[in-house]
Amino acid sequence: MSKVALVTGGSRGIGAAISVALKTAGHTVAANYAGNDEAAAKFTAETGIPTYKWSVTDYDACAAGAAKVEADLGPIGIVVANAGITRDAPFHRMTRQQWQEVVDTNLTGVFNTIHPIWSGMRDRKFGRVIVISSINGQKGQFGQVNYAATKAGDLGIIKSLAQEGAKVGITANAVCPGYIATDMVMAVPEKVRESIIAQIPVGRLGTPEEIGRCVAFLASEDAGFITGSTISANGGQFFV
Ligand code: CAA
Repeated sequence: MSKVALVTGGSRGIGAAISVALKTAGHTVAANYAGNDEAAAKFTAETGIPTYKWSVTDYDACAAGAAKVEADLGPIGIVVANAGITRDAPFHRMTRQQWQEVVDTNLTGVFNTIHPIWSGMRDRKFGRVIVISSINGQKGQFGQVNYAATKAGDLGIIKSLAQEGAKVGITANAVCPGYIATDMVMAVPEKVRESIIAQIPVGRLGTPEEIGRCVAFLASEDAGFITGSTISANGGQFFV
């Protein structure tokens, strides 16, 4: 079952590993990115996966971007809403801008990504919708009122889409990564990061490839009976 897959934030970090895992599984992959042209060019040179630039915060850009991917590669059968940002601060110091930027990317950005693709999936009676949420959407996190709220909201999107998609061949699932060795986690102050690793029973950060393989499984034919689910890949840090 080879499909066209769109991965947002797909040229760096977890998203890059997802793009590669889907390509390895035989899919034709388009990796979206928002800003880092240099990283995107390097990613394409290394993997052969084309990149497409737009911001998930802009609905019209998402619709035009998805249309361009479909014109280039064919109908999108797999969409992975992965693009996400952090603007960490304790709540008493969190600004409205920090709140809004995270909501615009991590929550509205998921709507903007899936919505323009959804009708085509309904018409074709097939779709795999996968959202990258987070352990911190499940358990909350000091300094992440904004991020945790959006990642919990993403799980609401998936559980609702699972119900709407069930009769038209579309599955909708989430992956909740724990702390993975990416730039996002490396940006956390070293002392804080060390205390986080101490809370992970397996004693290490996860790898982006471990998340990529979860997504490739959810996108596969074998996962057809799995919908509305969450895979928690967090080294035992939190049990739902
Ligand atoms: N629980 C309880 N108290 C905490 C705490 C925690 N988890 N973290 C910090 N504090 C306390 C500190 O002990 C300190 O208390 P004292 O003043 O009494 O010493 C106080 O809060 C201030 O802490 P900082 O010095 O760290 O304050 P800061 O303003 O410099 O930074 C922060 C605050 C931005 C929240 C910083 O602590 C931080 O970056 N924390 C990490 C947040 C985090 O885990 N982000 C995840 C990023 S990765 C990601 O999001 C990917 C994913 O999906 C998992």
